[in-house]
Amino acid sequence: MTEQKAFYLTTPIYYVNDAPHIGHAYTTVAGDVLTRWHRQRGEAVWFLTGTDEHGQKVMRTAEANNVAPQAWCDQLVENAWKPVWKSLNIAHDDFIRTTEDRHEKRVQRFLQGLMEKGFIYEGKYEGPYCVGCEEFKLPGDLIEGNCSIHSKPVEMVSETNWFFKLSAFVQPLLEHYKNNPEACEPASARNEVISFLEGGVQDLSISRSTFDWGIQVPWDTSQVVYVWFDALLNYATAVGLGEDPKSELGKKFAATWPADVHLVGKDILRFHAVIWPAMLMAGGIAVPKKVFAHGWLLVGGEKMSKSKLTGIAPSDITNHFGVDAFRYYFLRAIPFGSDGSFSWEDMTARYTSELANDFGNLASRLAAMIEKYCEGTLPAPTPSPELEAALKTAVDIADTSICALDFQSGINAIMDFCKRVNGYVTEKEPWSVAKDATRKSELDSILYNTAEALRALAVLLHPIMPATTEALWQSLGANVLGEIGSQKISDVARWGQLKNTRVTKGAILFPRLPELEIQ
Ligand code: MSP
Repeated sequence: MTEQKAFYLTTPIYYVNDAPHIGHAYTTVAGDVLTRWHRQRGEAVWFLTGTDEHGQKVMRTAEANNVAPQAWCDQLVENAWKPVWKSLNIAHDDFIRTTEDRHEKRVQRFLQGLMEKGFIYEGKYEGPYCVGCEEFKLPGDLIEGNCSIHSKPVEMVSETNWFFKLSAFVQPLLEHYKNNPEACEPASARNEVISFLEGGVQDLSISRSTFDWGIQVPWDTSQVVYVWFDALLNYATAVGLGEDPKSELGKKFAATWPADVHLVGKDILRFHAVIWPAMLMAGGIAVPKKVFAHGWLLVGGEKMSKSKLTGIAPSDITNHFGVDAFRYYFLRAIPFGSDGSFSWEDMTARYTSELANDFGNLASRLAAMIEKYCEGTLPAPTPSPELEAALKTAVDIADTSICALDFQSGINAIMDFCKRVNGYVTEKEPWSVAKDATRKSELDSILYNTAEALRALAVLLHPIMPATTEALWQSLGANVLGEIGSQKISDVARWGQLKNTRVTKGAILFPRLPELEIQ
């Protein structure tokens, strides 16, 4: 029996020259939300993240700290990267490090294969190189001799290296994007890639001889593999690239590859939409279904980065707003694909109006009323055609939008439904109805419908805010329906699921914020 093909999503593997900042967390949270959503659609899912450990950037940082590169990477991965993902509730299935044996041996085997197929040759490379980007630059990429991204001088490289015949793939790549426009999104990213390809592409130097922190070229011990060539392969090596199709790992590869989405920031689009598919085409392996390039988080109008000392650690924000508000805010506030600025004021405003008032208060009011008027027992199910119809619309829009990586529209649709439910409660005035004992069944119906709407909100918001929605699930007594993570999106709009549950007042979902110290 062949395994069901998983929805396979990857984040970039991050350089371990420093600890994660909110730019890295932005990509990883988006990946986590999307994979959690697909899991709740009932799909098999595989979510990969990891670290990019070779190359000069990491090597020089380790040297500057008087630590051997491997020891440097080990301590940063264990003490910074993995704990930050854990603290943000990231549910990845695998974490790959490019210094792992499984990766190194599969990279070497892949490279050997390309050599045997005639796609690799020896040549002389001369030109500018930016260690910050780990990229060979063209004179047009520079601003007064500086890298345009890092605003730092480039270095001149002059070496005999091994080259990959990238130029041979310009036509196949143009064909690929013409026939499969969804393979590179958003459209602005695709257009950039197409015009880059149309401008002509040179062959790529894929090895370096002046340092040794990398994977050895299998046929030439004097060279290590260029860090990007090594790093891009992680997406395939992690799931068993090149393993015997009959082996367990070979079956894993068949059930995962090709990747459904490579999530990347727009800074690394060309590597993913030009070099990576060309490498795969050369190796006779299917290309990824989609590369999606999101925008940058900006500080002072520029890409936020540690090297420019504008990096903000996720904990600076989560200590104040909590983890779930962090996960919610960036996807809600910035259209995925566009740049956006983070501001404490905007996040405070959204936290207060959308999370604390619209969502959190609705949950606590309901629990308080069920306790007061129904002794904590949820009244019997009643139909609510109007709320049910609004919910169906919200689910349809959310599902279509989130699957298309339009997180903002998806979250808006869910939060619009939340507003609708608040409107329902305001309009029905259960506190007035409760004063009249003859209207008990009307009161029961209002409270039931509100609880049922909250059940649906908990499920729909679970991929975005896993801990808060879990607390709400418990408070509604909804665990009788099973775990919140196993509730299906396709079933969420079916009205009347909560039955005979005990509703309890849990902790406040989004507490009042402490005074803001940082401005
Ligand atoms: N190691 C390479 C990627 C190799 S993938 C085969 C790399 N690493 S990185 O540590 O520099 O991370 C780059 C990624 O981090 C970006 O593509 C993006 O996903 C995320 N971000 C880093 N800074 C960012 C912002 N200021 N804003 C949004 N995302 C940012 O490049």
